[in-house]
Amino acid sequence: MCKENNNRAIFATKFGAIATTVGSAVGLGNIWRFPYEAGVHGGSAFMLCYIIFLFLLGVPVLCAEFCMGRASRSNVFGAYGKLSNEKGWKITGLIGILASLMILSFYSVVAGWTAEYCLTSLTEQLDFHDRMAGHNQFVNLTTGYQPIIWTVIFLICNFIILTRGVTKGIERASNIMMPILFVLLIAFCINSFTLSGCKEGLEFLFKPDFRKIEPSVLLGAMGQAFFSLSLGLGCMMTYASYFNQSTKLGNAAITIASLDLLVAIFSGIIIFPAVFSFGLSPEAGPTLVFEVLPFIFNQLPTGAVWATLFFLLLFIASLTSTVSMSEISITYFCEEKKMSRNKATILSSFIALVGGSLCALSFGPLRDFTICGLTVFNLFDYISSNIFLPIGGMICSIFVGWKMKKSLVKNEFTNYGQTKFHLFYLLIFVLRYVCPVAIFLIFLNSVGIL
Ligand code: PHE
Repeated sequence: MCKENNNRAIFATKFGAIATTVGSAVGLGNIWRFPYEAGVHGGSAFMLCYIIFLFLLGVPVLCAEFCMGRASRSNVFGAYGKLSNEKGWKITGLIGILASLMILSFYSVVAGWTAEYCLTSLTEQLDFHDRMAGHNQFVNLTTGYQPIIWTVIFLICNFIILTRGVTKGIERASNIMMPILFVLLIAFCINSFTLSGCKEGLEFLFKPDFRKIEPSVLLGAMGQAFFSLSLGLGCMMTYASYFNQSTKLGNAAITIASLDLLVAIFSGIIIFPAVFSFGLSPEAGPTLVFEVLPFIFNQLPTGAVWATLFFLLLFIASLTSTVSMSEISITYFCEEKKMSRNKATILSSFIALVGGSLCALSFGPLRDFTICGLTVFNLFDYISSNIFLPIGGMICSIFVGWKMKKSLVKNEFTNYGQTKFHLFYLLIFVLRYVCPVAIFLIFLNSVGIL
């Protein structure tokens, strides 16, 4: 992010814009959340729905967010205001801000676990040797009050990046680290093919079983598609407000969605063969990846080194995502509430800290404190991903499809006539009819009305 233009930063290059946006999309959502959601929702049925939703709903909504962001050059709240002059739309911005703070809360807990695992594997205390090791390890590390400390450590790192203007540093770091993470994931994928449960694991994930497609699978897959692409809360809108005028929005959306899917698939190929090889249950939920990974590292030579490197990279991938989700509330507090950037950052970090502490205790002292049968952690995750993000996405697609001036939308997709965008009318059709109707039907279906 570089030149200043009317006091707003702009990405200097197209590559910088895409790399940072991919940095937001690729994170724990792909490597931690995707396998756990797929595991809970029947594997292949979830995978199929996820891929369909990613391209049918995710890519169009991503295009819509890009269009709104760049056309308004504003935060999510301001974008609706600037482009419509009607107050009602702005409420969507508020939903996005609330969702971003909820996600930041539980996400920081999981990122804290990665930091804890990284340090523990560095000091070679990760217990790689026993069958129950993964589970016990996780229980040991996460059930007391210490996860709060790790959540705080993570939030401090996030805070430093946001306030010290080291965005350039994190951009540079992620430009190097993300490709390494990519290579490491490929290496672990190859390793998966040597495991005894390989066939079973891959079948679980890829052999279509249409009978398993239930309402909860549809809702979960839709939520995951939105979560994974950082959609529905204005994150991509905020980033697009920093895009320069020559970035091709349609191409950027497809590139980001494809890379995002690839990382999720890698993660599935790594986790499920190991799950079946070691006789674990794919339905373990949010703890799945952290219980399975130690087994994988265990059967690799110098497992502790692999583990340290992997968790370090995952930690950095988490930071590039949380920086983007923090940016939503910070730009809102700065631009709409006229706070200084420092104050705004303190406020959003503080909210995340309170929410994060409750989430961090959800696996230990607050395990039995449930609302509608869900712990605070699961509640934040469920409400934000499965409800707020799709609602935000639905409103955004209605806004761009029906409300925004067609000429302005077209200008954004053709870079004011400089490039062609052949799919423009298809995109408008999908935004007007397909996205809103599909999201609405999935909601009806999940509450049992359909
Ligand atoms: N897409 C990120 C991931 O998959 C999570 C995220 C959600 C980031 C919402 C920003 C906003 O890890």
